[in-house]
Amino acid sequence: MKNILSMSQLSNQEVYDLIDSAIEFKSGKKSSIGLDKFAINLFFENSTRTKSSFQVAEMKLGMKEIEFEAATSSTTKGESLYDTIKTEESIGASVAIIRHPEDEYYKDLVNNHNLKIHIINGGDGTGQHPSQSLLDLMTIYEHFGSFDGLKVGIIGDLSHSRVAHSNAEILTRLGAKVYFGGLDAWYTSEFAEMGPQMDVDDLCKEMDVVMLLRVQHERLSAEENENFSKEDYFKKYGLNRNRVDLMKDSAMIMHPAPVNRGAEIADDVVECDKSYIFPQMANGVFMRMAMIAAVLEGENSDNEIVNKKRQ
Ligand code: CP
Repeated sequence: MKNILSMSQLSNQEVYDLIDSAIEFKSGKKSSIGLDKFAINLFFENSTRTKSSFQVAEMKLGMKEIEFEAATSSTTKGESLYDTIKTEESIGASVAIIRHPEDEYYKDLVNNHNLKIHIINGGDGTGQHPSQSLLDLMTIYEHFGSFDGLKVGIIGDLSHSRVAHSNAEILTRLGAKVYFGGLDAWYTSEFAEMGPQMDVDDLCKEMDVVMLLRVQHERLSAEENENFSKEDYFKKYGLNRNRVDLMKDSAMIMHPAPVNRGAEIADDVVECDKSYIFPQMANGVFMRMAMIAAVLEGENSDNEIVNKKRQ
């Protein structure tokens, strides 16, 4: 594959291949595929996990990072995203990881230009977050060994969440059943088409995976933020110790983070036995190695990493 832009672009087989590859990297597989190649991490929205773990993944693959800070780049003088990427390609970058506030910013880059550099989407507006989705899938797959018939409850700020968009779509395609919780206003028609809305206590009792989402205050209107009460939200939708006790023994708590402690999750639940929040982050490095390796391998072949068939 040349680029990884959205989960809808990936076939089920490609998703499983990426999970296999990430698990191999986690088990100690070495690769020098990035040796003497340069990566650039173009983050136009803030990030801690995604940027840091792509940086570590690049280093583990032997790549060198070209430093880039949006605030001190020539984008502040009006240089376009295309010109920025074409510049980095001309300087020698092989892979660009891009996070951008605009939904589907990548469409213009891949449809209207002939870039050689590989693009991996590090999150576009409220659209997609494929690297987060793939590391979530890896973490679920390691725990359950399959997605078929799993019940996944996604609770929180659905409509603003690129994680919710990516995960609801791919989990359904892989055979899981998705359910939703949180404010009615966030349960938009696209989610209603994929699964029902449920009470949070019932979700905790019935789900195999309870996936929490951050309330994205930066994407809420001034009025929505004014009317938002953290305490009310936590009471109605937050995961507290009592709700954790309702969960099945085998059930997982997931959250892409950053977490709002005391809003969608209680402080003492973040690192409880059922929580996979920090293991998700650890897996993120290996999944991002797999993603970079997959696009670099795509340089020599139209096809992808491995071709193991699953039933
Ligand atoms: N999960 C996630 O995308 O975190 P960052 O915004 O810190 O990268």
